[in-house]
Amino acid sequence: MSTYGSFPAARPRRLRGIPAMRRLVAEHHTRPSDLILPAFVREGIGEPVPVGSMPGVVQHTRDTLRKAAVEAAEAGVGGLMLYGVPEDAKKDAVGTAGTDPEGILQVALRDVRAEVGDALVLMSDLCLDEYTDHGHCGVLTGDGRVDNDATLERYAEMARVQADAGAHVLGPSGMMDGQIAYVRAALEEAGHQDVALFAYTAKYSSAFYGPFREAVGSSLQGDRKTYQQDPANAREALRELSLDLAEGADMVMVKPGLPYLDVLRDFAERTEVPVGVYQVSGEYAMVEAAAEKGWIDREAAVLESLTSFTRAGANMILTYWATEAAGLLRARY
Ligand code: PBG
Repeated sequence: MSTYGSFPAARPRRLRGIPAMRRLVAEHHTRPSDLILPAFVREGIGEPVPVGSMPGVVQHTRDTLRKAAVEAAEAGVGGLMLYGVPEDAKKDAVGTAGTDPEGILQVALRDVRAEVGDALVLMSDLCLDEYTDHGHCGVLTGDGRVDNDATLERYAEMARVQADAGAHVLGPSGMMDGQIAYVRAALEEAGHQDVALFAYTAKYSSAFYGPFREAVGSSLQGDRKTYQQDPANAREALRELSLDLAEGADMVMVKPGLPYLDVLRDFAERTEVPVGVYQVSGEYAMVEAAAEKGWIDREAAVLESLTSFTRAGANMILTYWATEAAGLLRARY
């Protein structure tokens, strides 16, 4: 072969030669303000309790939660998504602790709002599973099925107390039909027009939630397959998207993250509202476990996974690494 004739017609490697060039031509950047830190606050503990399956994650006391919120805000994190873990004795069939103005999530929302004001977007999980003794996301019928419409009534009440407690955004995560419209109407009626809804639009029934169940001390036996989506379905996620948008969702979410990047891309291409993705507990645990064994470069894997969400079109990323990642991203760019 002659020398000139064998040249490749194009040499993409020219743009990869030095770090400065790679930075210059990078198409996507995750920013600290894109990140949302999910955090757990547990009632009746004097010290934070580590979550065994999520090294580095704890169930916070009210006090350490306040500190974590300040740290996140100082790191430039965009938001906080709060989960309450009530005392076991307070769990019951209808999840009363979830609608008690003095329930753990509500007092913690007031704490955080008083501590950081509007420096972070304060979000709260709107679901009953942490508060029910059977661990389901709603109330049950006599024969043990989750009663959609009776559950909506409970969500409406939950929305009112969470908004009263100072949440800027509520995250209905129970996958009941009509939940966005129902909660929206309840908020309007209660004078909370400005509280936004971040719909868990495509929430799949996923094995990757395993560690979360430990984090919230879940009482669940069985699964959530009658209300969460089947991992086999992508078109169905688009139907959920149309419904949530028609019902008044301000933002929409895909959950989990890495196994559902196709759905995330579909949402980002189709909708005019901000799109979020939830990098769930199992995704976190896999990287942490592999890193602990020395099998993966932890920081690189964390940043690469965040970049993949941004590249697929996410505006917002819920990740347990939010505060640390914000620091890494700042150092990088
Ligand atoms: C339900 C809820 C779940 C998660 C967030 N909200 C778990 C479930 O559906 O069982 C999972 C989050 C994670 O795994 O990180 N309120």
